[in-house]
Amino acid sequence: MKVLVIGGGGREHALVWRLGQSRGVEKIWCVPGNGGIAAEAECLAADVGDVRALTALGERLGPDLTVVGPELPLVNGIGDAFRRRGWPIVAPSEQAARLEGSKIFAKEFLLRHEIPTAGMIGTFESASKACDALRAATWPLVIKADGLCAGKGVFLAPDAASAKDFIERALDKNELGPGGQRILLEETLEGDELSFILVTDGERYAPLVPTRDHKRVFDGNLGPNTGGMGAYSSDELLPPKPRAKILESIVEPTMLGLAADGIPYQGFLYIGLMLTRSGPKVLEFNCRLGDPETQAIVARMDFDLAEVLADAAAGKLDAAKLRWKPGASVCIVLASGGYPGKFETGKKIEGLANAEKIRGAKVFHAGTKRDRDSIVTSGGRVLGVTAAAASLESALAAGYEAVGKIHFEGMHYRKDIARHVNRVHAAGD
Ligand SMILES: Nc1ncnc2c1ncn2[C@@H]1O[C@H](COP(=O)(O)OP(=O)(O)OP(=O)(O)O)[C@@H](O)[C@H]1O
Ligand SMILES: [Mg+2]
Repeated sequence: MKVLVIGGGGREHALVWRLGQSRGVEKIWCVPGNGGIAAEAECLAADVGDVRALTALGERLGPDLTVVGPELPLVNGIGDAFRRRGWPIVAPSEQAARLEGSKIFAKEFLLRHEIPTAGMIGTFESASKACDALRAATWPLVIKADGLCAGKGVFLAPDAASAKDFIERALDKNELGPGGQRILLEETLEGDELSFILVTDGERYAPLVPTRDHKRVFDGNLGPNTGGMGAYSSDELLPPKPRAKILESIVEPTMLGLAADGIPYQGFLYIGLMLTRSGPKVLEFNCRLGDPETQAIVARMDFDLAEVLADAAAGKLDAAKLRWKPGASVCIVLASGGYPGKFETGKKIEGLANAEKIRGAKVFHAGTKRDRDSIVTSGGRVLGVTAAAASLESALAAGYEAVGKIHFEGMHYRKDIARHVNRVHAAGD
């Protein structure tokens, strides 16, 4: 099997690494890839948002399977373009990807099918009408830009003044770009977040192990939001009872709702949940795997990923094939100095080989590139040091021991991955 992977971050490195272990895989291409992926796959340059360019590439390469990492090609319709030509791909259609591409579409879907979610106050295109609606609001309140905004489209407004400022920046000043021309106001939910991702062939689905990510840059969940500073997965993260509740009250009605609406969904469906006192509620859908959740997920895989994904692309997913290593996994993101603000690139990275000597550890590259004989930084999130072990304690010990071997100028990371939250509300209690 020859596999094409689209994307060039830590998530895609994790996919390439696991796909490379599949028995039937003889070749992997990655577009555009990065400094670490280059050692495990043939990297090719192309703009991942340009479906036409990717289709031309598909024409030339003839992959037996294509796996898509980021949302942009999905929202731009790569799933339809490849399937129309009969090329096996794990990707929802452009229409199905609207579950991520439009927060208003997703909210209307959730409400229509009575799937638990944060109550909607309204949707607005006019700043003055949105500000009028604030008068009846309770605080804090969540404001979401409808479309993709590169992680800048959600604001938890503590009061009316800051809410008004965000609304005006989105709707009047167009500061969020085209994704911010419509907004959604919704109630704030309280609880612990959980990423529940499944793979589906349009009919059958199989949940992946649950994960929790860490969005804030500093320990203790402080500082600004990032693309994700780490993630973990463990057997204890989601006990059987709340897991069953999520399947029954959220996953099943979502799958049925998609079918009822005539939206076949094939690919990864990421359900962002808040585990509240009154049960699990949907915060958001993403139409793809998470980054860095994927790194923690692949570390626990005990099955042939290429085989399962080829099954999903062919419409014959077999959930029984997904087997997981018991225990836990962690991914610790090493970021450039200054990230998520301004940062410098081109810093030489030392200690990668020593880090991978630690039992159970694997270093996934995100923002790196090869520079002659060395690997240098080329992005904000640089590496995802990942480890799996029989317990969360051992996975953390191995992960942080591996982190200790790595160095680059300005490097920073969170020291409290999997530690800042350790309670899960019994959903439905
Ligand atoms: N109704 C809500 N109540 C409380 N917190 C919320 C709510 N909606 C969103 N959040 C917080 O804001 C974060 C981002 O929201 P959301 O996931 O909808 O945005 P996003 O930009 O699509 O995120 P991602 O980059 O993970 O796809 C959530 O992870 C959660 O922490
Ligand atoms: Mg999202």
